Amino acid sequence: MSRIGPEEELPPGTVTQAGSWAVGNNGEYFAVSHTCRHFGANLAQGSIDADGCLVCPWHGAKYDVKSGRMVLGPQGIFAKIPGVGLAFKTLTRIFPLQRGRVVVKNGDVWVE
Ligand code: FES
Repeated sequence: MSRIGPEEELPPGTVTQAGSWAVGNNGEYFAVSHTCRHFGANLAQGSIDADGCLVCPWHGAKYDVKSGRMVLGPQGIFAKIPGVGLAFKTLTRIFPLQRGRVVVKNGDVWVE
């Protein structure tokens, strides 16, 4: 189990890195593997959108952090290439981001 830090340092809307995890708070704590399935950007440097999805910092792909699946494919130039979004969304149905279990103990956030 890895300690992330005090709860106060992970308020709603924030994401941080802990080892191979992107750990965030979208109203609930979550932990997913931090490597984007598109070109490998670090999702711990991403953001959380209004739907609570984790948004990749490079090309804006969106992930459902509960399922680990990409729900919106890469944006920008990639969004104009037919089939790219569907291909990556399908890929993450087969290989979703790993999900870790986040627990709070004595005011500290941990991931396992
Ligand atoms: S690397 Fe994440 S969307 Fe391109």
